[in-house]
Amino acid sequence: MTETDTAARLRWVIGNWKQNKLRFEARELADAVAAGLMNAIAANPSSVNVGIAPTFLSLDLAVRHAPPGGALWLFAQNVAAQESGAFTGEVGPTMLLDAGVNGAIIGHSERRGHFRETDHDVARKLQAALAAGVQTVLCIGEPLEIRESATHESYVISQLSTAFSNVSHEHINERLVIAYEPIWAIGTGKVATPTEASAMHRSIRAWMGERFGSTGAGRSILYGGSVKPANAAGLLAAGDIDGFLVGGASLDAASFLDIVRTAAGG
Ligand code: PGA
Repeated sequence: MTETDTAARLRWVIGNWKQNKLRFEARELADAVAAGLMNAIAANPSSVNVGIAPTFLSLDLAVRHAPPGGALWLFAQNVAAQESGAFTGEVGPTMLLDAGVNGAIIGHSERRGHFRETDHDVARKLQAALAAGVQTVLCIGEPLEIRESATHESYVISQLSTAFSNVSHEHINERLVIAYEPIWAIGTGKVATPTEASAMHRSIRAWMGERFGSTGAGRSILYGGSVKPANAAGLLAAGDIDGFLVGGASLDAASFLDIVRTAAGG
């Protein structure tokens, strides 16, 4: 497998619902996604994994009403770096697994920006989640001023290198997915061009290969930032983009499933 052989890597499409949806709305949306899922991936069911990340308070509903066979992966939007203890307001990695949740998003730029999570905090969460066996989506990405100063590549590589500073080779496996999300593209309608996104994905893959060998280079790398049904195919065609972390467009089942269908090649 060459480093850019996208065919060999699993695709993922994950809906990040952020702080949206009351429980009855979350139930409706999760049901609608589940109802349309098999049809959306029909072209190539084993090529794409599909997940949703409701709020903590709706995750139990999603667990209870998930389609059979684990066809819809369930993610928390955050996870603690500690397993348990005197950490008011936090939820640990094993607690997620115990509740039937498959994984967690770690280091989303909104957590870094609004809640002051540092690269170091992200590193601790990543280490804990991977050690606990949680399916992990590590988010990285640069702000606009960094992109404009053309230092985005070194910025993102530095985020990566801090995030993985405590992670050993044994924890690099299919449980790890990376999401490149340029902050200037999140919720702005301003999507990175396929060329911009795939160039960054290649740099991330090269770094993962240097640090963790072929297992590192073989991780799925998702793009996030204003992904919509209209731009998904163009991004995937650029190569080195193994699917999407979807915010706004995941709040509507039809548009989310359209993106899933595109990722499945349908
Ligand atoms: P967006 O959000 O699709 O609304 O830009 C993406 C994300 O924050 O993961």
